[in-house]
Amino acid sequence: MDKTLVRLGVNIDHVATLRQVRKAVEPDPVSAAVACEMAGADQITIHLREDRRHIQNRDVRLIREVVKTALNLEMAATSEMQEIALALRPDAVCIVPERREEVTTEGGLNLVDASPSLGDLVATVKDAGIHATAFLDPDLRQINEAARFRFDAVEIHTGAYANAPPQRRGAELKKVKEAADAIRHLGMRVHAGHGLNYHNITALLTVPHLEEVNIGHSIVARAIMVGMERAVRDMLHLLGRI
Ligand code: PXP
Repeated sequence: MDKTLVRLGVNIDHVATLRQVRKAVEPDPVSAAVACEMAGADQITIHLREDRRHIQNRDVRLIREVVKTALNLEMAATSEMQEIALALRPDAVCIVPERREEVTTEGGLNLVDASPSLGDLVATVKDAGIHATAFLDPDLRQINEAARFRFDAVEIHTGAYANAPPQRRGAELKKVKEAADAIRHLGMRVHAGHGLNYHNITALLTVPHLEEVNIGHSIVARAIMVGMERAVRDMLHLLGRI
């Protein structure tokens, strides 16, 4: 796929994190969603965690109402989250592993040991017209399982690539490329996310079949310094979109 067609989803969880530090009313992730869209983001991504440490139910409801591009809801594969997704009707759900003690999503799903009920969840959300994505490490065994569970897309966890020291970065990028080839070969779409920033995004664009990236920390961090519009537009520029 032409690299100029990579879509940018902006993950705005950190805006809610800053609000929750004070249990205050600002900054409001709803306003952040609007600002991201006005700057040209293709999608707003939010993670409603079981412990509600950042995004709240109220945010999800209001963001669904204001978002005019696409809403991607990251969630654990639980019955509570399935119910919320079916009521909310995001454009996509991205199923992620969730551990209470983690600082952020630290690894991809383990589909090899996943319960067959995950297949029911995937079928149910797809029947409701919601795209289903699995967040996976660039691991061919896991990718094969994603096809078996009938996911529409795989978001490749790019943390290992993003955090690799320079001498290992090429090897980690190669794993991401091989994963992307396998995902496409199995008929699923290729997304990527985690740890992507203004320095490592350009090399990632050499990954074949890449259609979407979801980026949070680096964009929100830059937004604090230069404003959300400029932060989103700087990333769109690196994606070759503007
Ligand atoms: N994609 C998924 C599935 C994630 O869980 C996260 C982190 O919440 C991201 C993308 C964004 O990662 P980062 O904040 O490191 O850009």
